[in-house]
Amino acid sequence: METLWDKNIQRPEFKSLQTDIKTDVLIIGGGIAGILTAYFLQEKGVPYVLVEKERICSGTTGGTTAKLTFQHGLIYSRLLREKGAEKAGLYLRANRMAFEKYAALCRDIDCDFQFRDNYVYSRSDRRKLEAEMDALSRIGLKARFTENVPLPFEIAGAVCFPEQAQFHPLKFLYSIAKDLNIYEHTFVREMIGTTAVTDHGKIHADKVIVTTHFPFINKHGSYFVKLYQHRSYVLALANAQEVGGMYVDECRKGLSFRNYGDLLLLGGGAHRTGKNGGGWNELREFAALHYPGAEERYFWAAQDCMSIDGVPYIGRYSENSPEMYTASGFNKWGMTGAMLSAMLLSDMVCGVRNDHAELFSPSRNFLKPQLLVNGFEAAKNLLTPSEKRCPHLGCALKWNPAEHSWDCACHGSRFSESGEVLDNPANGDLKK
Ligand code: FES
Repeated sequence: METLWDKNIQRPEFKSLQTDIKTDVLIIGGGIAGILTAYFLQEKGVPYVLVEKERICSGTTGGTTAKLTFQHGLIYSRLLREKGAEKAGLYLRANRMAFEKYAALCRDIDCDFQFRDNYVYSRSDRRKLEAEMDALSRIGLKARFTENVPLPFEIAGAVCFPEQAQFHPLKFLYSIAKDLNIYEHTFVREMIGTTAVTDHGKIHADKVIVTTHFPFINKHGSYFVKLYQHRSYVLALANAQEVGGMYVDECRKGLSFRNYGDLLLLGGGAHRTGKNGGGWNELREFAALHYPGAEERYFWAAQDCMSIDGVPYIGRYSENSPEMYTASGFNKWGMTGAMLSAMLLSDMVCGVRNDHAELFSPSRNFLKPQLLVNGFEAAKNLLTPSEKRCPHLGCALKWNPAEHSWDCACHGSRFSESGEVLDNPANGDLKK
């Protein structure tokens, strides 16, 4: 499955680790969060090493639709309701800062960066959008309400954030990564304190930052309780529609739209990993109905970690592991989430105070209704008899006929037909 972003692009190559080494900061995971963290540490002159088990950007980072925005669905009314105006305002400032950092970096990088208005629309619930407008005015952000968007269906309305942006994620990241201290094909099999054990050498580090999409160390942080995963699907269509901006349904199972060149990127079909969902079929049916002359050029899927309360986990891995840090649970807003993580974590490992640390702390109170849903799914799948069991914590695996994979609904691990691990938190293949 080749994404649009992989096409005609020169990927930088890095050697694999072949000996024992020492460093101040070890970053595990070569997706966007890890690469940007390495970039900021290099800027600060901090000795670091980044290791990636395959090639950099080979996971979810390569499957993004690459929207750069601090409009994350209808997050601000939710934050106002659940955490109060101060934290809603902090979330906005943190993500706006991340957005502005992209805009600044992209000035010098050829990565198809374009300012575009971003819209969150609802097909049926105008009241939710009005509540979001109200929340935004209370935290001092001017947004625009509209009923007119160039989408091929009726909407109840849309909240627009002007001057957000889109870009080519791999052109950006390969340019950023090329001078960083990276080892590819270097799989961390085990952590002993802050020492990472790989197949051909140990890495002794003072501090460790885990940016492996789903934090892979089970014994700290209870991430298997407070994270779950979603899959979503994208088609890149020629001869479809120029939509002029970026559009996301406020409903998690809705559709998203943006253009890249003369292609329309149509996203949607989302579902909890390991459960049934619309997938590419839903998108193909929509395209056949609304864009009958369109031609499908690429299709791909992405996997996202979802937090319990809609706010990412960025900071100390757990209260019991003071020299370990992580970033996860970006809730499908991985571009700003990754930049924010990199800024925050590179400050934290250097002992610099950051005003956003408390809001994003992975050790915050996470007693939320989603916890019950996650607990129910885990219990149900642990008790379900099945031919294949997940090596992470033993849940039943379900065959995914669209992607020819074995998927786990407990925490979202996935395996190929022949048993190789595709998505963590499982840290190894299926037993033969
Ligand atoms: Fe945790 Fe499968 S991912 S049991």
